[in-house]
Amino acid sequence: MGQSRFLGLDVGTQGLKGVIIDAEGQSLWQHTVPYSTLTPRAGWNEQHPEDWQKALTTLLDQVAESRIPIEAIGLTGQMHTSVFCDIDGNPLRPAILWSDTRGSEQVQQLLARYGESTLWKRFGNLPLVNYTLIKCLWVQHEEPEIWKKVAHIAVAKDWIRFLMTGNWGSEVGDASGTYWLSVADRNWDNAWLEEQNLPPEWIGPVVESNVVVGTNRLGPKALQGIPVVAGSGDQPASALGTGVVHSDTIGISLGTSGVVFWPQPKFDPPPHASIHAFCHALPNQWYWMGVTQAAAYSLTWLHERFAGGASYDDWTDEARTAPAGSDGLIFLPYLNGERAPINDPDARGVWFGLSSAHGRNHLIRSVLEGVALSLKDVVVTMGAEGQNRRVVATGGGVKSALWSQMLADVLGSPIDIVEDPGAAVGAARLAQVSQFPDALKAIAPTVTHTVHPNSAVRATYDEAFAQYRALYQRVKPMFHP
Ligand code: XUL
Repeated sequence: MGQSRFLGLDVGTQGLKGVIIDAEGQSLWQHTVPYSTLTPRAGWNEQHPEDWQKALTTLLDQVAESRIPIEAIGLTGQMHTSVFCDIDGNPLRPAILWSDTRGSEQVQQLLARYGESTLWKRFGNLPLVNYTLIKCLWVQHEEPEIWKKVAHIAVAKDWIRFLMTGNWGSEVGDASGTYWLSVADRNWDNAWLEEQNLPPEWIGPVVESNVVVGTNRLGPKALQGIPVVAGSGDQPASALGTGVVHSDTIGISLGTSGVVFWPQPKFDPPPHASIHAFCHALPNQWYWMGVTQAAAYSLTWLHERFAGGASYDDWTDEARTAPAGSDGLIFLPYLNGERAPINDPDARGVWFGLSSAHGRNHLIRSVLEGVALSLKDVVVTMGAEGQNRRVVATGGGVKSALWSQMLADVLGSPIDIVEDPGAAVGAARLAQVSQFPDALKAIAPTVTHTVHPNSAVRATYDEAFAQYRALYQRVKPMFHP
């Protein structure tokens, strides 16, 4: 396996990323071809699958130009994003993105028809606007002329897989985000598909993430005939790339949105409806995941609106001059509603406890603290707190020493800051594991440094957390008049 090289392709939201790794998982080459997102209405997000296809052509040319011989190709991409195709696989309309919220009526109808507890028991998840099924129900209802022509439906990376191999189908990771899968059985729920007017042949079989699903027929000759591996959704692929693969480790990503990712050795419905229970990218592994909508985005929002051109780092550093707990100022980061743990798309941001004694430094600090408190809220809701688990953190937010210290202080546990090679590396790893199953043993987090909690601020943050939770419960009725 010494000289082997593997290509990972990530059909991301910003662009198509390709990474080539060596047998040790080190990145040798990477490139991203960007494309754009359409917002035809507020809350609607779409992309042209043809733009992904063009990006793929460009990227494969660049891979061939690198002259690095590739042994296998693994795929990953934005989860839930749905492509509706005719019999030849041509898209009938723009893809509806994971972040698109147009299907809230369809969610309500599904809940009314089957009842929350039936769906919860059957899927271990409640339906959310993000899921592929909801997008299907929307097209069925709102665009019947298009629905009549539908012969195949695929999530983003599985459409790319169709282009590359000619085979339709999915794998357990992305299939978990469709609401078509029995997550417990790691197989399609065929009776459910029938009830939802979705013939299984539209979708193809579902396999484990490290399975070869065909050979590549696109791009320069040197890349044709190479095995293509099913891959996984971007969240499990990222977790695999980072080495978050055992239940003794909780992964926190402090990016634009925040993710708490906890691998599980067996399928159990999570302890709360806002937490997803999905299949991990490795056989016999599941995970619980809670997503917060506006994590680092909350700070970006504040900086963009109010920093008056000051550099992001200098301006954020002002927060150091305010004390832990921001002198009683609490921020709820629900700028775009919230997924976990409150599952409330109508919630909005709140600053509570503002007084004339507060300055700009307090406002900035309270936003950083509010995001850390929101991540703790997810960890606690998952039942993962105080369980002697290792916490590893990635994402742009933890590059800030101040913010990562705050996260450790708020959680009251040490945090290993790890390198985040990204989902494409996870996909390349799956390609590697498909050829060399032993490679799995070498996948572990690469820790850059560990941040230890400061016990002097423990009581302050415990009190702030209690207030943070109580505050939402108090203002909740005002978001739902
Ligand atoms: C996961 C989710 C996003 C998308 C896009 O549930 O909605 O992370 O996968 O990255």
